Amino acid sequence: MSLTVRPVVGRRAKITALGTYVPPDVITNQDLEKMVDTSDQWITERVGIKTRHKLAAGLGVSDMCAEAAKKCLSARGMKPTDLEAIIVGTVTPDMMFPSTACLVQNKIGATNVWGFDVSGGCSGFIYALLAGINLVQSGAHSRVLICGADANTRMTDYTDRATCVLFGDGGGAVLLEPAADGEIGFIDSLNEIDGSGGVSLNLKGGGSLNPSTHETVDKKWHYIYQDGPAVYRFAVRKMAEATQKILERNGVAVADLGCFIPHQANKRIIESTAERLGMSPCRVIVNIEKYGNTSAGTIPLAMETAIEQGKLKKGDLVLLAAVGAGFTVGTVLLRWEI
Ligand SMILES: CC(C)(COP(=O)(O)OP(=O)(O)OC[C@H]1O[C@@H](n2cnc3c(N)ncnc32)[C@H](O)[C@@H]1OP(=O)(O)O)[C@@H](O)C(=O)NCCC(=O)NCCS
Repeated sequence: MSLTVRPVVGRRAKITALGTYVPPDVITNQDLEKMVDTSDQWITERVGIKTRHKLAAGLGVSDMCAEAAKKCLSARGMKPTDLEAIIVGTVTPDMMFPSTACLVQNKIGATNVWGFDVSGGCSGFIYALLAGINLVQSGAHSRVLICGADANTRMTDYTDRATCVLFGDGGGAVLLEPAADGEIGFIDSLNEIDGSGGVSLNLKGGGSLNPSTHETVDKKWHYIYQDGPAVYRFAVRKMAEATQKILERNGVAVADLGCFIPHQANKRIIESTAERLGMSPCRVIVNIEKYGNTSAGTIPLAMETAIEQGKLKKGDLVLLAAVGAGFTVGTVLLRWEI
């Protein structure tokens, strides 16, 4: 390996704990067969999903983040009052404002923090992570909680078979702290946004352009709109391009990676990216069959799967990658230090 770890201005940042949360209620492919004209076979073959979780009525994304945050802090033996900042990646906040970060702060009793939300679509966790990494590396803060979660079932039209089979609810949280001597933690990131892709994946209603009215509801603008094949083409191309580029510019061969943790939108997108990278499938983390696409929630949930499967260990080089609404592209290369 010819990894050249570029020096950072300030200090290095690393992930020191992980916590995840999925709500208990499950929607199976058989449940969906009763709602729309679809089949377990089509969903399994075209997307790779068997089940997805659904947040119970009366709860919001902040509740899932709070649960994940508590597990994350407990894994590190820290109290909520030890935190200095909270950043939440989500596109399904409890409400337009206050931010989910404020709601999480209040729910977990983190009385010494500031924080904010990041809207990056399915790249939301990676973008929130990068914001936190910069807070730690600059020396501004030493204990930053990053949450990535979405309650996609809230925005899903269960009469539209092309979207309703894809999405689920869930997410996770990681803690960022300064790396110790000899540790590396965060290495590099490569990101991009392309707003011309906004027409292919969006939620039009409820914002300042189209505030909610009877008309916007009649037009179903409170639901996710997606041109699936257009998103698919962009995702397959960009996941491969961005992952190859970040490995190349850091002198990391695919064989040097402990594992690859991609966003979970479609098993075929993941397989195609892995194939283009030349990566053995056994080191590619896939849990889409259980959770579906939880947008900003997929990467922390996949980190947990990687740990459970013994594929993510201290000292491993890990590549995270996502493509999402915007379009957004996010990649992070890091060394796992837990
Ligand atoms: C949505 C997606 C699964 C559709 O798969 P696809 O193979 O591209 O399928 P198409 O949209 O071309 O549709 C093929 C056929 O399957 C049908 N179909 C779509 N959804 C179906 C479903 N749930 N069950 C059965 N048939 C379905 C379509 O109506 C179409 O039928 P037709 O040929 O009679 O018109 C796929 O495009 C995708 O994964 N896109 C990216 C999604 C994504 O990543 N989103 C989040 C971004 S982070």
